[in-house]
Amino acid sequence: MKDNTAVINEIRQIFGDSEKYAYVRSFGCQLNVSDGEKIKGLLRKMGYSFTDDENKADLIILNTCAVRESAEDRVFGIVGSMKKLKETKPSLIIGVAGCMTAQEHIAEKIKKSYPQVEIVLGTSAISALPSLLLESLKGKKFSADISEYDDFSEAVEQVRESNFKASVPIMFGCNNFCTYCIVPYVRGRERSRDPEDIIKEVRELVSSGYKEIMLLGQNVNSYGKDLKDGLSFPQLLRELDKIEGEFIIRFMSSHPKDASRELIDAIFECEKVAKHLHLPVQSGSSDVLKRMNRNYTVEKYLETVDYIYSKAPDFSLTTDLIVGFPDESDEDFNATLELIKKVRYDNIYSFIYSKRSGTKAAAMPDAISDETKSKRMRTLLETQREISSEHYKRFIGRTMRVLVDDHAKKREGYLTGKSNEFIIVEFEGDASLIGQFVDVKITDAMNWAVAGHIIK
Ligand code: SAM
Ligand code: SF4
Ligand code: F3S
Repeated sequence: MKDNTAVINEIRQIFGDSEKYAYVRSFGCQLNVSDGEKIKGLLRKMGYSFTDDENKADLIILNTCAVRESAEDRVFGIVGSMKKLKETKPSLIIGVAGCMTAQEHIAEKIKKSYPQVEIVLGTSAISALPSLLLESLKGKKFSADISEYDDFSEAVEQVRESNFKASVPIMFGCNNFCTYCIVPYVRGRERSRDPEDIIKEVRELVSSGYKEIMLLGQNVNSYGKDLKDGLSFPQLLRELDKIEGEFIIRFMSSHPKDASRELIDAIFECEKVAKHLHLPVQSGSSDVLKRMNRNYTVEKYLETVDYIYSKAPDFSLTTDLIVGFPDESDEDFNATLELIKKVRYDNIYSFIYSKRSGTKAAAMPDAISDETKSKRMRTLLETQREISSEHYKRFIGRTMRVLVDDHAKKREGYLTGKSNEFIIVEFEGDASLIGQFVDVKITDAMNWAVAGHIIK
C-alpha cells in the first residue's frame, strides 16, 4: 500500500476551508462498485463530500466496465457529454478509472479524443489517485497511472453505498481466460486476500450492524489456491459462519469447474450461508463450452446440479448465459433451451455475445446474423419467464426470511427485499423495517418475484 499521507495533507491544504464535491459513478459488476467505494474512501480523506449531481461536482470519476461493447459506448457517450460541463466550469477535474482504462487502445483514445479527461486510473492503481489528483490541482493537463501495484487497498476505508449490505472482495483477477472475456486482461491474475484480513473485516462489519455480507471474486471458489498457508473457499465460509450475529453470507461468482462437493457441503452445513448458488453455465452445448474454454461439459455441470438437488430438490440456482457466441448453431442454442428447462433456474442473466478485441473469440469466424442473435435472446427470455412462473409457485404457503431492501417500486405502502434463496419478495410494511430481517408468509407468485405478508 502506497503511503499517501503527505499527498493527502497537501491536497487538504490546497482546499483550505472551501467545500469540495465529488461525483463517483461505477459501472459493471459488484467488484467494480466495491472499487468505487474505495475510491470514495480515499476522496473523503482528501476532504471531498459526495454529490449525485454532476453539475455541482468539482471532481467527476467514472469507474468503468469493459465486459461488453455497449458498456464502453455508454461511457464514451457520458464522457463526450461532459465536455460542455468542463467548458462552463474549467476547474472541474474529470477522471476515468476502472476496467476500460486497462486496455491500452482505450487509454490512448481517451487521451487523444477526450481532452476534458485529465486523470486516467487503472484497476490496480486506486492508491495512485491522490498523487494524480494533486498533479491536476497543480495544473497538469493529463496524468495517468495504469500500472499494477498488486495493492489490495487494505488500509482504505470504503464509503459504502448501504449501511446494511456490504461487499467484501476476497480475491482479485482471473486465471480462466474464457475465450470471449476481457476480464483477465483488465484485472490481471488471481490474487487472494489474506484470510485473517477478510475475517477481521467481516467481524467488524457485522458488529457495526451489517446484515448481508457479499463475498466477491471473479471465481470465488478458486480462492486461496495462490496462498501458501491460507484457507480454501469452503474453509473460509466455515470460518465466517462462526462469527456471532444475525447476518447472511452470500458470494459470487462460482466457476462450475471448481464447484466441488466440499463447497456444496459447506453451503448446506453453514447456517449463515445463503441457500442459493449462482453457477454461470454460459451455454447448454458442450461444443460451445469447449470453444469458450470453460473447462467443463454440460454432463459435468449437470452432475454438480444433481448433487445439489440430491440434498435439496428445489434448491435455488441462478446462472449467466451468452447467446450468439461465434458460430453458435440452432442445435447449440436449442441445447441451451433444453438445459434451462432441465435445471429450472430461478433466474438467468443473459447477454448477447459482444466481441472484445484481444480475446481469442474475437478471431473466431462468426456467420450468425445480429437478427438471429436477437431472436434467440427473445426466445431464451420467454422460455425462462415460463419456467420462473411455474417454478416460483413452490414458494406459496412457505415462510421466507427476507432482508428488507427498500420501498417496492410500483406499489405504495409495500416493501421489497431478498429472501435467503435470493428471490425478490414484496409485502406490505413500514419503512422502518428497511435493513431488517422479517419473516414473510408467501401467498402469491409472479414470474419475477413472490408476494406475501409479514408474520414476524
Ligand atoms: N467470472 C464470472 C464467471 O465466470 O461466471 C463472470 C464474470 S463476467 C463479468 C459476467 C458475465 O458477463 C459472464 O458470466 C458472461 O455471461 C458475461 N460476459 C462476459 N464476457 C462477455 C462478452 N464478451 N459478451 C457477452 N457477455 C459476456
Ligand atoms: Fe471472464 Fe471466465 Fe474469468 Fe469469468 S471465469 S471473469 S467469464 S474469464
Ligand atoms: Fe466489467 Fe470489469 Fe467487472 S470488465 S464486469 S467492471 S471486472
